[in-house]
Amino acid sequence: MAAREIENKIYSVGAIDWDRTLFDALIPLPHGTSYNSYLIQGSEKTALIDTVEPTKFDQLKKSLVNLDVKKIDYIISNHAEQDHSGSIPAMLELYPGAKVVTNSKCRDFLIQLLHLPEEKFLVINDRDTLSLGDKTLEFILAPWVHWPETMFTYLQEDKILFSGDFLGSHLATSDLFAEDQSNVLREAKRYYAEIMMPFAKSIRKHLQTVDDLNPAVIAPTHGPVYDNPQFILNAYKDWVSEDAKSEVVLLYVSMHGSTEQMAHYFLDVLMQRGVSVQPFNMMSADIGEIALAMVDAATVVFASPAVLMGPHPNMVSAVYLINSLKPKTKYAAVIGSYGWGNKMVEQITSLMSGVKAEFLPPVLTKGLPSDQDFKELERLADAIVEKHADL
Ligand code: FEO
Repeated sequence: MAAREIENKIYSVGAIDWDRTLFDALIPLPHGTSYNSYLIQGSEKTALIDTVEPTKFDQLKKSLVNLDVKKIDYIISNHAEQDHSGSIPAMLELYPGAKVVTNSKCRDFLIQLLHLPEEKFLVINDRDTLSLGDKTLEFILAPWVHWPETMFTYLQEDKILFSGDFLGSHLATSDLFAEDQSNVLREAKRYYAEIMMPFAKSIRKHLQTVDDLNPAVIAPTHGPVYDNPQFILNAYKDWVSEDAKSEVVLLYVSMHGSTEQMAHYFLDVLMQRGVSVQPFNMMSADIGEIALAMVDAATVVFASPAVLMGPHPNMVSAVYLINSLKPKTKYAAVIGSYGWGNKMVEQITSLMSGVKAEFLPPVLTKGLPSDQDFKELERLADAIVEKHADL
């Protein structure tokens, strides 16, 4: 791919992965992704910030050849995960004089993950600077904006923050900058939900650091560059806050139709009461969309039939995922049907132990739901309305 200039002597040289459909063998990528790498040519030294997924190394190499880059002095590693570090070994073969610049924790990861030799590293500490001549890099440790070793690199003179995964989006686009803010915002929110939501507390602190820097440009490792970063910073402040919105996420799956009747009835009574609901059929739902819905929702309801006493396996998988993502959910409930007995409430409650949600009384029916069961669903909807009034 051809390099694209962000500012004078600062280039985006990474790779766009238009065709990738799945990340980490887990996260669907409806709009592909990119692995952003940035080249900074100072008056004396040249630095590359992060590399690309190893399968896309040729795109990075082509950009550097197009720019006729004969020498790279520093390869800055903001994050050790292989979609950004995986091409460091190939880069060191291409530019054998380069040093890998990172913090000690990231160095240890890179040695373990890529078997890089220890003597190739230049280890920096929080707020250390590195001069490229007329340009100065400042390193800011920012643990847990994905992994414990993550950091930012700030180009002082140009006020550009290279933020790693932080503030990024899985979005393959021909736009170098975030032109279509509403589209980027949706993808960035989905990315936040999938990758960053478990670290909301750390992120609140790092947002303050970014505010204090007041960067003119933010260049993450996925998705477009922000040349007007305030909109994404404001959005992140909302997403990481503890305030939930009056929304219900309703996950459902049905075997013989009983739970489906309950889920659809419940959806309808919530709608009649003016509650915003996002339903997901667990036989076909995109887990990234569920994660996205969980960023704001105050309540999640699990509607499942009993399978050998426990929830349907697709529901177990969703509950496990939600628990791992640690959303700000305040309330939860279980509804569904069973044949001869069930332990769905106990099992789902146990799987949700990492989320501080209050479980409202369940509605469970043996076989087809009766008029009494539908009345109980109405009572559950009323209880949710009452709880949401206090948000
Ligand atoms: Fe894009 Fe955590 O790697």
